[in-house]
Amino acid sequence: MCANAEPLAVPFRRAHPSVSQGPAPRSLAIGLIGPGQVGQAFLRQVRAAQGTLRRTRGVDLHMVAALGRQRMWWDVDDAQWQAAPDRTQVWRPSDPVAFLDHVQASGSQAVLVDCSASDAVPDQYAHWLHRGIHVVTPNKRAGSGPLHRWEAIQAASRHGGHFRYEATVGAGLPVVQTLRDLLDTGDDLHTIEGMLSGTLAWLCYHHDGSHPFSEWVRQAHTLGYTEPDPRDDLSGMDVARKLVILAREAGWALSLNDVQVESLVPSELANVEKEMFFKRLPELDAAMADRLAQADAQGGVLRHVASLDPQGRARVRLQVVPADHAFAHSRQTDNVVQFTTRRYADNPLVIQGPGAGADVTAAGIFADVLRLVDRPSPMA
Ligand SMILES: NC(=O)c1ccc[n+]([C@@H]2O[C@H](COP(=O)([O-])OP(=O)(O)OC[C@H]3O[C@@H](n4cnc5c(N)ncnc54)[C@H](OP(=O)(O)O)[C@@H]3O)[C@@H](O)[C@H]2O)c1
Repeated sequence: MCANAEPLAVPFRRAHPSVSQGPAPRSLAIGLIGPGQVGQAFLRQVRAAQGTLRRTRGVDLHMVAALGRQRMWWDVDDAQWQAAPDRTQVWRPSDPVAFLDHVQASGSQAVLVDCSASDAVPDQYAHWLHRGIHVVTPNKRAGSGPLHRWEAIQAASRHGGHFRYEATVGAGLPVVQTLRDLLDTGDDLHTIEGMLSGTLAWLCYHHDGSHPFSEWVRQAHTLGYTEPDPRDDLSGMDVARKLVILAREAGWALSLNDVQVESLVPSELANVEKEMFFKRLPELDAAMADRLAQADAQGGVLRHVASLDPQGRARVRLQVVPADHAFAHSRQTDNVVQFTTRRYADNPLVIQGPGAGADVTAAGIFADVLRLVDRPSPMA
């Protein structure tokens, strides 16, 4: 249980960067870190929207550089760069310091978009924010990693660049901003409940007793719905990271080890080789069949639920939800987040939709980037 849950010393409600900064830019120099699936989708979306944004909103977005682990590229606005699959003609060896200087020198307002899953990159966020550079990311490591690092990032964002991370929870769904808006407008949060894993949502949706649970896991893996090692989904840790991000947003000083997580992976299979795990997958079946029978007996359905209660206790587990609950009607790989608040007490506020995928995640990042820009009058 979450015995360590205490309100955060930092009053996020008043200090949040979205309400504390001065004039915002109309022109942004963007540096991309991690040109993988999400990063490349983001590049494509920016490129497709640049002309319209310039014309209709007077907003100039310049993609000035991209940084991978081994290589970096400048002039990524260049059509030739975009078209060349390996981009060999312009890459140079990665040099994070030169990259940073180049991005910052390329415009009066600069933003770094961290599309890596690295834990090392967020170590730099506070430094960048202090330099006045904005940071936008779908990377969950900062929001769910060490609390002192998170607090340093928040503190830096109050005096320097903005820090936005909507796509860390629910990909393109407006989850973090909705929670922020509820709190900033004076609502009181009672509970957060969420189905925050598309993979586990899909497994719970299909696990109806017609086939052993292990067969559904294999099918989800074949369809590409799971991580390469399905234990990364089944352990519940990715969901726990998202819950920590939401809990901190709500003002609770939670860390990952404060979350009570029920793993669907038996301890004896947690550390075996991946091939051996697949071989022994049917060892999950009996326990999952029992859980399904219990849900049936109660007239409910089995769902994988993350929850934060009014005392700041955070849990991630399989749960029986009533047949008329919002989670019972979730579809396929949907994420569903339900906020119960003073204003939304009897009928909670529900956000639902695809919570993963490169395109929707990139769109969440893109929307965050655009929120860094002021609202100019439409240009002729
Ligand atoms: N895919 C989704 O549906 C989804 C949804 C929500 C959030 N996210 C988050 O979005 C982020 C990106 O996901 P993805 O699916 O695009 O992953 P990905 O395809 O593996 O791409 C990650 C990229 O980051 C690069 N990278 C790793 N460490 C780096 C470092 N220290 N410096 C510079 N670049 C580095 C990798 O380069 P190498 O190829 O050299 O390793 C790769 O290009 C992750 O944080 C993920 O959790 C993804």
